[in-house]
Amino acid sequence: MAATRNSSFDNPFYQPADKFFPANNKIGLTFDDITLATLYSEILPRDTQLDTRLADNLHLHIPAISSDMDTVTESRMAIAMALNGGLGLIHYNMPERQQISEVSRVKNHVHGLIQEPIKVSPEQFIGDVLAIIEQKKFAFGTFPVVDEIGKLVGLLSGHVVKPRYAKLKVSEALTPRSQVHTIMQKELGKDPIARADKFFTEHLGIHKLLVVDDKDKLCGLITLSDVERITLERAAQFKPARDENFHLICGAAVSATRNAFGELDKKRILEHVGGLVERGVDVIAVSTAHGHTKGVGDTVKVLRDAFPKLPLIAGNVTSAAGVEFLADCGADAIKVGQGPGSICTTRMVAGVGIPQMTALYVCSRAAAKKKVTILADGGITKSGDIVKALTLSQAVICGGIFAGCNEAPGDVVEISGKLYKQYRGMGSYAAMKAGSAARYGHDKNPAQKVAPEGVEALKEACGSVDRVLAQLIGGIQSGMGYLGAANLAQLRAKARYIRVSPAGMREAAPHDVVELKTGN
Ligand code: XMP
Repeated sequence: MAATRNSSFDNPFYQPADKFFPANNKIGLTFDDITLATLYSEILPRDTQLDTRLADNLHLHIPAISSDMDTVTESRMAIAMALNGGLGLIHYNMPERQQISEVSRVKNHVHGLIQEPIKVSPEQFIGDVLAIIEQKKFAFGTFPVVDEIGKLVGLLSGHVVKPRYAKLKVSEALTPRSQVHTIMQKELGKDPIARADKFFTEHLGIHKLLVVDDKDKLCGLITLSDVERITLERAAQFKPARDENFHLICGAAVSATRNAFGELDKKRILEHVGGLVERGVDVIAVSTAHGHTKGVGDTVKVLRDAFPKLPLIAGNVTSAAGVEFLADCGADAIKVGQGPGSICTTRMVAGVGIPQMTALYVCSRAAAKKKVTILADGGITKSGDIVKALTLSQAVICGGIFAGCNEAPGDVVEISGKLYKQYRGMGSYAAMKAGSAARYGHDKNPAQKVAPEGVEALKEACGSVDRVLAQLIGGIQSGMGYLGAANLAQLRAKARYIRVSPAGMREAAPHDVVELKTGN
């Protein structure tokens, strides 16, 4: 006889979303208010797939996005997120040009073929090259040498870029063209990495392969270390999130910018986003505290008209009407969350906002109807919250979880022997002064006093994003294993919920022990 997979005794207690949430419609529920019931499973956590589709041309390998906050996501964080299969949204508390170059940094990070390698000229001195390395903080010291029309003259090896040779000219120290290994661009074929991998195997001790055109002009560089990293990635379970040209993917946030007359500054928004698109941005997030507004809707419409294929995220909302409105304006993915964030005070200051699981349920049903996706933004403190959020959404957006990582902007500070990093709400007074006021509908230098909707805080330093994500992914996979869900669509379809009492909440955390170690 087959093992029992379902029992009708369970049904009145453990209910699917469409029964559970309407039955609890008198109360706003958040992560700790509910728990998920286990289900018959043939799925091992390690075999679960975490790929997610946010828009037609925006796919992630893990459903995690780092917040567009000035203490969370700049290029370093976005690179780390994409390398792990997720996405970083570069914040907009910086001049537009700087945000464009932050996106460029992500897009130009290791992608195999470096199309515009840093070059030096034969006339420069080694001392000049050393100064450039110091000034630009390059982590490498070998450079192709080209003449004034870009023709390859040789290779300046890192072995000779030393202070003792500072007075020598590059032309006196370089390895001449005849001894430099090159490949013709047209010989690279469809898979330049595989071709370069073969080359490095056949050429013992060579670490750099220069790509030239038929006039011997330099048009690229491939390094052994990049090839090895990419080859390893291809075998990994969670691959980096890359575009079709093998560049890491990257998002950028913008606001509904207004001009001096208080009108939406469409020209400036289009120029700004045009610059980001030119650098290869993969998704734009129109990111504000209140997305169900004319300003956000008009911004989304302007961007949708100008960039028909560009994936657009918009928010934040907590109602079905908000989701429908932004979807009708042209958004592909909608951020859900008003006031759940760890640094948010919106609910206390404005008395507004909906506990996150109820908001996600309501929004997810509108999103399914409109064929858009939902991003659960804020309030996540542990992997179990992510599993719960993913039963109703396509990905989560986290700030606090990543703010203590090495890759978050800002320095580590030591207080009483413990290490911390600064983390502040984008609606905190300091962040609004630095540029994010528009997100909360205020002026940067307001004539009248405004009430901040976020706090300035500290997060304990927690190491690398790789380490933090490894823990979170392990937790998500574990949750999926308990629910017998092989992928995220199955997780959404299979989830069964029950409310938790305050005693049940206490029971869920370690209790009645003297804790020696938390996690690892
Ligand atoms: P977590 O909980 O991950 O939340 O730290 C990050 C999310 O919080 C939102 N956010 C704010 N919300 N006041 C708010 O009410 C603020 O000052 C603020 N700053 C960020 C934002 O959605 C972010 O992703």
